[in-house]
Amino acid sequence: MVTVVVDNVSHTYTKPVVTVALVDIDLEFKHGGLYALLGPSGCGKTTLMKIIAGLLKPTKGRVLFDDKDVTDWPPRKRNVAMVFQFPVVYEMNVYDNIAFPLRNYGYSESEIRKRVYEVAELMGLKDVLKLSASKLDPAGRQKVAVARALVREPSVFLFDEPLSNLDPLSRMELRVKIKELQRRVKTTMIYVTHDQAEALTLADYIAVMNEGRVMQFDTPQNLYEYPRNTFVGFFIGNPGMNFVNCELVEQGLKCSDILYPLSSREVEFLRKYGGEFVLGIRPEYIRVEVKQGLAKAKCSIREDLGTAVLLHLETAGGVVVKAKLPPVTAVKEGDEVFIDFPREKVRIFTKSGELVL
Ligand SMILES: Nc1ncnc2c1ncn2[C@@H]1O[C@H](COP(=O)(O)OP(=O)(O)OP(=O)(O)O)[C@@H](O)[C@H]1O
Ligand SMILES: [Mg+2]
Repeated sequence: MVTVVVDNVSHTYTKPVVTVALVDIDLEFKHGGLYALLGPSGCGKTTLMKIIAGLLKPTKGRVLFDDKDVTDWPPRKRNVAMVFQFPVVYEMNVYDNIAFPLRNYGYSESEIRKRVYEVAELMGLKDVLKLSASKLDPAGRQKVAVARALVREPSVFLFDEPLSNLDPLSRMELRVKIKELQRRVKTTMIYVTHDQAEALTLADYIAVMNEGRVMQFDTPQNLYEYPRNTFVGFFIGNPGMNFVNCELVEQGLKCSDILYPLSSREVEFLRKYGGEFVLGIRPEYIRVEVKQGLAKAKCSIREDLGTAVLLHLETAGGVVVKAKLPPVTAVKEGDEVFIDFPREKVRIFTKSGELVL
């Protein structure tokens, strides 16, 4: 169990073309924690994992394991276990696949047997130990890869999109298994995904990345309630936060035909940041009323999502927002309603997208 510190790391690939993959990354993964790196394709997640694993040397910065600078250490010395999207299984039975790293490290056969049985039990592989690993279904093969990572008792687990090739049901099943397993062995785990549901349900702490930078490193709840910028506000949530462009006036924020009232203290505070802002509110927090509210809006689309309905609402002045409401909601396409944005749920961002209030 180690604490992994990524200290001011940047990485630029030079071939085939110059590509800036990571910029000034500072992160601390505390020992025993379950962390996720979440971000769109190409944002630098795998590059960061490779740097932590020792498969790639950063162009700038250091990696520390428990205060030891390991930047120049080879992967083997770091004792990290990686599991990738496409599981690597060898043409041998499941038992030998799991035993493989232990044999490499020269463990005795009796110790190997003890450990293989332990992890096979944990991963639900006990009944298939004699089967050929390559004949298992994708979920089974990924379980073998996880078991093989686990059996070595590494200092850190690095999982890079291990579930993205599985069917939804196996994905959910294995996600729970991975969380259980991490809680049991308490090994620091960094889990890469571009699926927010996976990151939010799995991790205690999430680094949301975009274009080689960390946008926010926080708990799932804080990412949801207090996104530090519009990127996180939009990336987290299903659908993401609504954003409305506004102008600061004496009484509050004027967003086309909506005047969103603010206290004079709030207006004064905002004035330091300029005259234009973005008002953010999550679809779940918009109030939709029949009789009165902040502004009148027309429902252009109603999407039934099963557990909720999503209303696309537009004011006469062209402000468009989505509201997520309980499935019993009676509003139909074409109906006129009133919308309201509860003050405690409204977040105000600068025009360039940084949270200010
Ligand atoms: N070996 C490489 N050589 C050159 N450029 C690379 C290499 N690996 C990645 N890149 C580039 O670096 C950037 C970051 O890539 P990276 O694979 O780290 O992103 P990612 O977040 O893991 O994406 P994905 O979700 O698609 O796996 C991308 O622009 C990518 O094209
Ligand atoms: Mg990747």
